[in-house]
Amino acid sequence: MTDELSCVIVKPDGVGKAVVGKIFARLEAEGFRLTAARMVRPTPELLGGFYAEHKGKPFYEGLLKFISSGPIVVTAWRGADVIRKIRALIGSTNPAEAAAGTFRAQWGTDNRRNLIHASDSPASGLRETSFFFAPEELAPYDPMLWSRPEYAPPTPALKS
Ligand code: CMP
Repeated sequence: MTDELSCVIVKPDGVGKAVVGKIFARLEAEGFRLTAARMVRPTPELLGGFYAEHKGKPFYEGLLKFISSGPIVVTAWRGADVIRKIRALIGSTNPAEAAAGTFRAQWGTDNRRNLIHASDSPASGLRETSFFFAPEELAPYDPMLWSRPEYAPPTPALKS
């Protein structure tokens, strides 16, 4: 299976509850590759573009207000079947209905304060990732990257 990209956003409640590291650790443990990451305080106008498909829905204004209420951590993760697998890890939109052990079941509060967003299809993954990141900001996936000479630890200075 070819790699997909999932855009994962830790919402203001996740940042406030200090679970960003726990979420990253779990996604890394699953074998997904962190491909881009940034902490931002988005405006409702910016988020209107991101959540355009929900415009007109009863929860839309509240959604924009909540996600712009504090810093969020925007990320992109790469891997085989990463869309489906991360959706399974985050759980249902409503944390009360999310399966035990999922991020939302553990740390979510309600439909709005539901901790985290993850892309729901490969096409959304590409669209959402490119909404926040330019192509040159995405780390190339290369398992040998850190063994290249340019990433070798600095050689200690020789004693005279
Ligand atoms: P997210 O995965 O970010 O995608 C769209 C968001 O809309 C969703 O998570 C929820 O936070 C929000 N949402 C969906 N349904 C409702 C609802 N019934 N009430 C409030 N917010 C909702």
